[in-house]
Amino acid sequence: MARILITSAIPYINGIKHLGNLVGSQLPADLFARYMRGRGHEVMFICATDEHGTPAELAAAKAKQPVAEYCTQMHEVQADLARGFRLSFDHFGRSSSARNHRLTQHFAGKLDEAGLIREVTEKQFYSVDDGRFLPDRYIEGTCPNCGFTSARGDQCDNCTKQLDPTDLIDPHSTISGSTKLELRETKHLYLRQSALKDRIEAWIDSKADWPILTTSIAKKWLHDGDGLQDRGITRDLHWGIPVKKGDQPWPGMEGKVFYVWFDAPIEYIAGTAEWADANGRPDADWERWWRTDKGAEDVTYYQFMGKDNVPFHTLSFPATILGSAEPWKLVDYLKSFNYLNYDGGQFSTSRGRGVFMDQALSILPSDYWRWWLLSHAPESSDSEFTWENFQVSVNKDLADVLGNLVSRVTKFARSKFGETVPAGGSYGPMEEALIADLGARVRDYERLMDAIEVRKAAAELRAIWVAGNEYLQASAPWTVVKTDPEQAQAQIRLGLNLIRLYAVLSRPFIPDAAEAMMAALGCDDWSWPSDMPAAMRHLAPGAGFSVPENLFRKITDEERSDWQARFAGIRS
Ligand code: MF3
Ligand code: ZN
Repeated sequence: MARILITSAIPYINGIKHLGNLVGSQLPADLFARYMRGRGHEVMFICATDEHGTPAELAAAKAKQPVAEYCTQMHEVQADLARGFRLSFDHFGRSSSARNHRLTQHFAGKLDEAGLIREVTEKQFYSVDDGRFLPDRYIEGTCPNCGFTSARGDQCDNCTKQLDPTDLIDPHSTISGSTKLELRETKHLYLRQSALKDRIEAWIDSKADWPILTTSIAKKWLHDGDGLQDRGITRDLHWGIPVKKGDQPWPGMEGKVFYVWFDAPIEYIAGTAEWADANGRPDADWERWWRTDKGAEDVTYYQFMGKDNVPFHTLSFPATILGSAEPWKLVDYLKSFNYLNYDGGQFSTSRGRGVFMDQALSILPSDYWRWWLLSHAPESSDSEFTWENFQVSVNKDLADVLGNLVSRVTKFARSKFGETVPAGGSYGPMEEALIADLGARVRDYERLMDAIEVRKAAAELRAIWVAGNEYLQASAPWTVVKTDPEQAQAQIRLGLNLIRLYAVLSRPFIPDAAEAMMAALGCDDWSWPSDMPAAMRHLAPGAGFSVPENLFRKITDEERSDWQARFAGIRS
């Protein structure tokens, strides 16, 4: 039994995530966690909400709520949706937890002891009317390059020129519109990532098996421009983790907080500590996942995220870990995803475009979405959600192939032999051929799942369902029963065992349907089919079963066009 640590990028607290966010991190992480548990490994699967930063503050202000209260409420909303999608986190933590406060301050203290922090005094725009320093992108003005009047302080969206807010003509706050902006001096802490460049580069170079998408992004950031830059890890905000050296004050940094991207990945560790706290377990129980001096040397650590998160996980977070000079676990395999597009454009949270997690669950159960999203995961390139494609996948793969097999076998068995596994006959050459084929295919499925080749694994699973259907089609127990009822009993016994096999194999993708299939067989043995001939003889002749409710229904053309129209606009 191996020990597998899995983290999903932690979603921002402000607002409900869309399906593109879901398929880029939390859902494939869940697939992998469920698969690894199914194989009998010890798994720790952690996610959380990412609660700090200016967007969280502004969203709370817009909702007219204190920010702490807003975060508590939105955390519950996101936790509920995670349950709705059957995301099987061992813990869904919060980056604002006391654990993360302590741990983030601890790391900052260690980095300082190692001489990796420097103080920088810089000039930043302060908005008098908003009563706060403004991050660059919250300042707009006229682009000095092209004259575009809504250029942001970090970049002009019209001519794409990288800007400094001081470059803008007539700058104003996007929060209040106020032009009362003053350049004020402020002091910040910088993490000297440049001093860690060689170690980080050597570490990335040692990861020959990582996806190209991951390493190419990491290398670009290591080498582009002047290479790995030192970065500011503090901000002038009210909401966040107060800047401290361990539990000591940090002179000159009073009233400042750590930058959200400094504390967020530390929440992976803190979230595991929150798991221990929530379950009344001692520190040793979470430390054995994270501290290589306390048992984590035999842990394999997998991270899941969208491609925009890769620089922070290949460079910044490792700089925090390596720089601390303490034996914390570094990621072993980083799985990253491209983007999912929506019906000819992009999903967009700020513009409310696409299907969001709550909307999706309001029209169909989670398995329908999980299957489509995972079988179309944007791995080698961006992929696109269209309602036509969604309808075809659900109707063909889920309803025609899998659902149909389950209902045909159970209904036929009940009508001819009653509601127990028939005992007659024995497997002949056709059955043995199917068993051999399934054995080979399951090895292939395992290989793809081990490698987190999500789309290919889904395709192999579908092929495994199809093989069963083809067998039934060719062996035709409904005809055989008229001349050789014993043989038909053996065929149906095989069919019932197939249902159990499919429940076990499909559970990572479609957990609710898998459970309904297993429940119909009156069985609760989820052991992995390592020995296919034995797996196909698993159900005891004479054991009871029942005909399950229809597992999947078809999406009608009318529904498809309704949904297409309903989700064509902008979510308010
Ligand atoms: N909240 C970020 C996003 O949604 C991801 C943070 S991942 C972590 O893009 F590393 F910071 F945890
Ligand atoms: Zn411009």
